[in-house]
Amino acid sequence: MVAWDRIRRDFPLLNRRLNGKRIAYFDSACQSLRPKPVIERILQYYTTLSSCGGHRSSHSLAVKTEEACEAARAKVARFINAADPSEIVWCLNTTMALNLVAQGLKWAPGDKVITTSLEHHSGLLPYWRLQEQLGVRHHIVRVDREGWLDLREFEEAMDRSVRLVSVTGASNVTGTTLPLRDICEIAHDYGSLVVVDGAQYVPHFPVDVQKEGIDFLAFSFHKMCGPSGLGVLYGRLHLLEELDSLIVGGGTTIDVEWSPNDGHVTPLFKGPPAKFEAGLQDYAGIIGAGAAIDYLSERVGMENVATRDGELGRHLLQRLLEIDGLELIGPPEPTPHRRIAVAAFRVRAGDRYIAPYELLEWMEKRTQTHCFLLRIGGHCAHPYHYSVGIDPPLSARVSLYFYNTLNEIDLFVEELDRLVRFYRSKS
Ligand SMILES: Cc1ncc(COP(=O)(O)O)c(C=O)c1O
Repeated sequence: MVAWDRIRRDFPLLNRRLNGKRIAYFDSACQSLRPKPVIERILQYYTTLSSCGGHRSSHSLAVKTEEACEAARAKVARFINAADPSEIVWCLNTTMALNLVAQGLKWAPGDKVITTSLEHHSGLLPYWRLQEQLGVRHHIVRVDREGWLDLREFEEAMDRSVRLVSVTGASNVTGTTLPLRDICEIAHDYGSLVVVDGAQYVPHFPVDVQKEGIDFLAFSFHKMCGPSGLGVLYGRLHLLEELDSLIVGGGTTIDVEWSPNDGHVTPLFKGPPAKFEAGLQDYAGIIGAGAAIDYLSERVGMENVATRDGELGRHLLQRLLEIDGLELIGPPEPTPHRRIAVAAFRVRAGDRYIAPYELLEWMEKRTQTHCFLLRIGGHCAHPYHYSVGIDPPLSARVSLYFYNTLNEIDLFVEELDRLVRFYRSKS
């Protein structure tokens, strides 16, 4: 049994007040909160190391920085059961990792990419651009209204021209997951590679890339207790060896020859992961990412995260559905598949929908005990909203993580109820 109230005490932001009220942080699908051990490790880098890694400088603080960064890389590899730490490439975020795959593969005329209508813009636009730039065909398989992918429809879209299948592990709108192992199996049968957008998946479930058969996996530490603006591209080693890098420069080469006679520059590139990590890196972030992995796997445990997430998610849906006029964007419980504790919705009060900014304002300023920090808009998943006939700006989203409580959900639902009754009385 995890003592969740003790875990909550690890997060300094939960002890602060906003507008004179306690904070109920309901926006973890965007950025999670950070626990003290992660913050302290980042601070420790700046106060005790403050040097570069990547075998640039060779003084002792640089050597220690490099060792700490490589230890963090090895932790990430173990966390997702990668076969080798060299399969872990530091990126800015999930978006950059997905773009790296899209731009790095060597495309041939007639090649096709398959995605789904559930994807975040970061999992769609890289292929829209490939289509614009190179004529790579981009086919979007439609998920159903409730966010589930029909595997038969997916397989019908497959043929031998598909080079890449790019799917989200879990949706940041519906909270639904896609059947990754089946998708990988089907894609591989057709000779295609699979890249998984793990932005919402890796923070919530134990992941085993080898067991799932995932070729590339992208995820961001800012959604899993780690530093802002740091993510990872995992790729099978032989695939990373063949992948072109997105940017080139210092740290990526063994040598750069120059012939003054003919003016020719000849770079000799390193192998992965160094060939992708041009320029100085976010060493504080990388070391902090290692601390986030320690925190999630040792202090909390990923099985516990997944269980807690299920419990919070079920309670959230059950309570939200009690609100008269609330329309959930995604499946109500019970569902046959795993989902994360995310719920997007819109609320009707009388003859109109409550505007998202009215909801947001109420939840921060007019509540009684807590300031509820949630998200409104299209959540960078406009195609899915359009596919279910909802204007993206009309969607509100609650996204929870293991540090949230059932009581926060109850208080939120009470406030939502007050808000609906207020606007109904005015309509
Ligand atoms: C499903 C999904 N994919 C990709 C992203 C992009 O992540 P990042 O901004 O860290 O690149 C997000 C961000 O919310 C997301 O929810």
